[in-house]
Amino acid sequence: MVGECFQAEHLPYIVSKFEDYSPSALDRAAQEVLTALKEESAAVHNEADWKAFRDRWMARKNGILTQMNDAWLKSSPNTAKREVGQLVNALRSEVETIVERAKASVLPVPIAERAAKPQAVIQKQLSALDITLPGIRRPVGSRHPVLKAMDEVVGVFKAMGYSVEQGPEVETDYYNFEALNFPANHPARDTQDTIFIAGQDHKPSRDRLLLRTHTSPVQIRAMQKAPPPIRVICPGKVHRHDTPDASHSPLFHQIEGLAVDTNITFSDLKGTLDHAMKSLFGSSVKTRFYPSFFPFTEPSADVQISCPFCGGKGCRTCKQSGWIELLGCGMVDPNVFEFVRANGYDPKKISGFAFGMGVDRIAMLKYGIDDIQLLFQGDVRFLEQFA
Ligand code: DAH
Repeated sequence: MVGECFQAEHLPYIVSKFEDYSPSALDRAAQEVLTALKEESAAVHNEADWKAFRDRWMARKNGILTQMNDAWLKSSPNTAKREVGQLVNALRSEVETIVERAKASVLPVPIAERAAKPQAVIQKQLSALDITLPGIRRPVGSRHPVLKAMDEVVGVFKAMGYSVEQGPEVETDYYNFEALNFPANHPARDTQDTIFIAGQDHKPSRDRLLLRTHTSPVQIRAMQKAPPPIRVICPGKVHRHDTPDASHSPLFHQIEGLAVDTNITFSDLKGTLDHAMKSLFGSSVKTRFYPSFFPFTEPSADVQISCPFCGGKGCRTCKQSGWIELLGCGMVDPNVFEFVRANGYDPKKISGFAFGMGVDRIAMLKYGIDDIQLLFQGDVRFLEQFA
């Protein structure tokens, strides 16, 4: 195998003993070694060549370095030991360098070393990259119909000078009920099908956490933050323990509104909501208000709009009644202001109105969706219709 490394006319290099230790003799010996080393390394073309080359020069047993040690250094007279030692050391480091270099020329570069030479790697990758291949197209997402409807409602109220306020989805009993004038154990609480967080029996009831059942608690948080006058719109998710069907979902969305100032009247409420409904469903839509009950408003009303599909004549969507119920509203109950009186809300000096509407309902009406479940199933075929 070793023979392959040499040109035919050369005899392989052999370490022979010195006849004299003159500087010129040492020099000649060194030249011979270096010439042989370079010639043999130039003949290394693959891994097997390299291993044979390495072993011939560096094998512990009988490699050329070992032979030099034995034949030159060990047997040299004391007077020449120093020079011969220096020569052997210099040749050893030359052999090691050339053997390493020969290795790099035939063996793949280990990953750790490759990382230290990113330029070379990038070059290699670039040459494997065909920039004329078509790219991977990723489908572009679109706004969810609920968010689209929410944005639209918020936009209508922003244009009337309302600002947007948000509150937590995990709320305390105090904000969700107590400060909104739902007395403890009052039957009005039952209508809310509340989902409570477990394991809180040790806490006073006002501190117990629940998933908010409506966005109305944000009214209280907004009034605690800023004194009157105030005009806020509060969009968000709400939760109720409802069995899912075509018109119910345990998770849905509401938008709350609140306006408080001096001399706010029920007419302001009617005018504001009538304008909002016309903006959302078309200017020919009519609104009607009829009495209702909410603990936090007095008087309270439910608002219906004339059916935008049949113009009020009666159809499947409005169940032949010509009207669709869309939201609750009323004048803020003075008892609610009592909870934020210290923040500047003296019910003797100010008044306000509030309203709350279901966004999912509005989205369903606007986009002709007949099952609320479709909004939450995440079926791309359904959602991409709104892109
Ligand atoms: N929070 C009520 C609900 O979820 C909706 C509502 C009714 C909000 C009247 C109001 C309001 O602000 O004044 O059923």
